[in-house]
Amino acid sequence: MKIAIIGAGSGYMPGVIRGLLHRAGDLAGTELACHDIDAPHLDVMTRLARNMFAARGASFTVTAHTGLEAALDGASYVFTTFRPGGLAARHLDESIPLKHGVVGQETAGPGGFLMALRSVPVLLEIAGAAPPDAWIVNYTNPTNIVTDAVARTTGARVIGLCDQFAGDTEMWAGLLGLPFDRLEADWIGLNHATWASRVRLDGTELDLPRLLADLDVPGGGATPWRDPSRMVELAKALGFLPNSYAKYYFFHDDVVRELREKGTTRAQDILAMLPAYYERIDAESRAPDPDPSRERGGGEHGEFAVDVICALHRDENRRMIVNTRNGGAVSSLDDDAIVETPALVGRSGPVPLTMGPLPAPVRGLTQAIHAYERLASDAAVTGDRRTALQALMAHPFVRSKHTAERILDEGLAAHRAHLPQFA
Ligand code: G6P
Ligand code: MN
Repeated sequence: MKIAIIGAGSGYMPGVIRGLLHRAGDLAGTELACHDIDAPHLDVMTRLARNMFAARGASFTVTAHTGLEAALDGASYVFTTFRPGGLAARHLDESIPLKHGVVGQETAGPGGFLMALRSVPVLLEIAGAAPPDAWIVNYTNPTNIVTDAVARTTGARVIGLCDQFAGDTEMWAGLLGLPFDRLEADWIGLNHATWASRVRLDGTELDLPRLLADLDVPGGGATPWRDPSRMVELAKALGFLPNSYAKYYFFHDDVVRELREKGTTRAQDILAMLPAYYERIDAESRAPDPDPSRERGGGEHGEFAVDVICALHRDENRRMIVNTRNGGAVSSLDDDAIVETPALVGRSGPVPLTMGPLPAPVRGLTQAIHAYERLASDAAVTGDRRTALQALMAHPFVRSKHTAERILDEGLAAHRAHLPQFA
């Protein structure tokens, strides 16, 4: 069995290696074809992988590739986890909308739109070059737009991943004072726009409106990913759990002000710490029993991706939250939408579980985000400027046609080198 890892030089790779180790028994004998266009970073991560596997007796073969063809040849799973244009492009995604009074965010809003325009052509190329029966297991953002474009354009087998639900469930467990490992939340909607009105503790459904009514709004504690104070404030109003990205929709103008006051983008903050990060991983990769303790992406993302591959490969029919074709599971969204929803994952792919409608207070918002995403996916595939403008005009962050036009013109010009479809 062969798994191609596209973007294996990424700072997230140590977590993926850890994920592979945690299923090493189930994947024994697998070839890991590691691909990246950044040869030095690929070198660091493949050395780390080989030495971590050797030290722990895991029987993986690691090969390194800077060309796609050899990496994809004969692969059963193509795990895509890269950022087209790197963090320099992310900085533009985050800063261009902000100049025009709109939240600048990696995946949400016009920033995510610009990223979709770069990601989709690369994913289409990979899907076209991969063996026809391979599963594309995609982390490349914006994951559901990418998944939609690949599924509709190429007919390849694709599943979109994001481990946000795990981090958000953990955050809510902490806020509600409940044990994370005994909680199960039905997060439904669209990637980075999911909602949980059904949450179970040891299988018994919680009375969320009552629990939330009793909850005090905590002060402070915001990190780049989580804003517990705003989350609780929002949940008390909604009566169910919002995901972390909900703050961009419901506190849009406050977030714009804060991002402007902050002065640097998240991309710039990461760029500043990345050289030291790779130096540390490089040193660690040469240790007899390497164990990088602090890694990008935290603990779960690598294990989650490897668990999904195992669920597909071993026909586990495991309940997992993934991005896949709706088919009526979330009744408030189109049947052919890519939704994020609990699904049973087995050999024939994810089968989404019937979840019913979205909660009324976020139904219209989520439908609007879906309308935007479908237009964004079309624009990214075709390179049609008018469709691109319609996508931005449809996004809930954007309140004026002229704002949409300014962001589009500036974004297309800034990212020209990565947008062959708009040439
Ligand atoms: C979460 C999201 C990912 C996103 C990441 C950004 O994990 O689910 O989709 O890429 O945050 O994290 P960063 O550290 O790069 O800001
Ligand atoms: Mn995500």
